[in-house]
Amino acid sequence: MKNLKTIVLSNQEISPGYFRMKILAPGYHKMSQPGQFVMFRVQRSLLPLLRRPFGIFRVGFMPADCDNMPAKEFIEIIYKVVGDGTGIMQGLHYGDPVELLGPLGTGFDCGEAATEKILVGGGIGLVPLYSLAEKLVETSQVRLLMGGRTRDDIITVTEFERLGVETYVSTEDGSLGEAGLVTQVLEKKLKEYPQATVFACGPMPMIEAVQKICLQYNVPLQVSLEALMACGVGACLSCVVKGEGHTESDPRYLCTCTSGPVFAAEKLDWDAADVKIAKSGGCK
Ligand code: FES
Repeated sequence: MKNLKTIVLSNQEISPGYFRMKILAPGYHKMSQPGQFVMFRVQRSLLPLLRRPFGIFRVGFMPADCDNMPAKEFIEIIYKVVGDGTGIMQGLHYGDPVELLGPLGTGFDCGEAATEKILVGGGIGLVPLYSLAEKLVETSQVRLLMGGRTRDDIITVTEFERLGVETYVSTEDGSLGEAGLVTQVLEKKLKEYPQATVFACGPMPMIEAVQKICLQYNVPLQVSLEALMACGVGACLSCVVKGEGHTESDPRYLCTCTSGPVFAAEKLDWDAADVKIAKSGGCK
């Protein structure tokens, strides 16, 4: 992990309200694992003061400028404009100074080679699944189930397909792909591929539904949780969730930023009024 003062390389709208930002990031290729994230801050802005967490979509290299120059290493993040912070981000251009703290957190465990892998992504939850898919396709058959409210929420399909991932799209309003919830598609796929391992990221209601289905079909599941985060390094406790075996008398809290954001499903307490972000407690 390091704090890097760097610059934006590009920042493009890829679907209404969704932006893809490329940031110069030397060292990330070796340092980062699929599922990790960065805390991002705009250097010249006082608002918002805090850093914001963003999953790493991809790590790559720009071609070298000339024979003697090394290729430029970058990361890409994808964000949806939802408030002040992301509102400022959408106005950034090439050369604007930004800060990255990262890579942070615990990423995905790729599991056994040569077994079926099913990725489930809802909206912006798709982001950490891309670098995971890059790794998994080296040894396994990978299927991606992608869901959103409307066609605008379905992003980066082509990138996944270029990796050789079979993709299945569903939208709640039926404007793209199958009409309905991505979890309905998951049930169908688990009937076809009962030996699969499932990896999921998206809004909490989707994650909870995926957990129930995976439990019912008795397949292993890893989830990447989206949480409010202020520090990203286990200091502020703004991101704690209830862990397996949590009770009032024996509280077992886990920091999403350090123990996660990726958790094996069995490590979380799904009964405790859902695995929602707890309001108090400490990290273990
Ligand atoms: Fe501060 Fe996790 S974000 S402890």
